[in-house]
Amino acid sequence: MKIVSIVSSYRKNGNTSNVLKLIENNITILAKRNNVSLEIERIMLGHGDVKVCRGCRLCFEIGEEKCPLKDDLLLIKDKLLGADGIILASPVYVEDINGIMKNWIDRMAFYCHRPTFAGKTALLITTSGIGSTNHSLNTMKRAIQAWGFYIAGECKFRTGALMNISAINELYSNKITRISNKLYESIARNKAINPKFYSLVSFKVQQKYWQKHKDDSIDYWYWAEKGWIQSKRKFYINNSASYFKGKR
Ligand SMILES: Cc1cc2nc3c(=O)[nH]c(=O)nc-3n(C[C@H](O)[C@H](O)[C@H](O)COP(=O)(O)O)c2cc1C
Repeated sequence: MKIVSIVSSYRKNGNTSNVLKLIENNITILAKRNNVSLEIERIMLGHGDVKVCRGCRLCFEIGEEKCPLKDDLLLIKDKLLGADGIILASPVYVEDINGIMKNWIDRMAFYCHRPTFAGKTALLITTSGIGSTNHSLNTMKRAIQAWGFYIAGECKFRTGALMNISAINELYSNKITRISNKLYESIARNKAINPKFYSLVSFKVQQKYWQKHKDDSIDYWYWAEKGWIQSKRKFYINNSASYFKGKR
């Protein structure tokens, strides 16, 4: 099982990293208990090189490889493609995800047109000071659902300006155990082959669009070559596979 965690806090030992450490520890214990080999990789977005989207639209029009910004984006994309599941974790800045996470999501926007991650599972995490609405979780959720991910769970943590890891564990141990189980079970039982209602509707809306707009765009050909434009196709992946067939 391979899990990639993407963290957008710049603080290496900040609240978001500490919550993630606890989740990763829990998942490691679950994998050991079940004799499953596990690899977890952490990407600190703020410490890598992900430049700011210039809105040139080349990724939409001729492909993401043609993006004029030469940085770590395609490398991160490949890591996600090689993972069974991901954890997206952002601190709340002014009632939303922080700019580092938002910029990364913007740079990945071509996946809204050419969804690639169906069958893969995601867990969404935010940490905040005192207050927090669902707004930040929704920003991440809408984006990665459009990219095809199955959302196993989402969770908010109020951690103040800086809370040490044992205090976080003391306060949130039940919550952390619950969401770690959710992510682990979703991957182990391949729950992502049974997409949620929103994802099915999103697929159908785009399918209808491409049935009517047979232009020569790379998006059209992406959908056509995948066989997704045919009406009999119900989702990006074959979700009629039985639970037991899909079980790993
Ligand atoms: C620029 C900035 C803006 C913030 N905005 C909010 C906010 O709107 N609501 C809130 O509850 N906390 C806010 N916070 C607090 C952080 O969300 C909180 O401390 C978070 O856990 C920090 O995570 P980190 O330690 O991983 O960076 C803000 C912090 C900073 C630095």
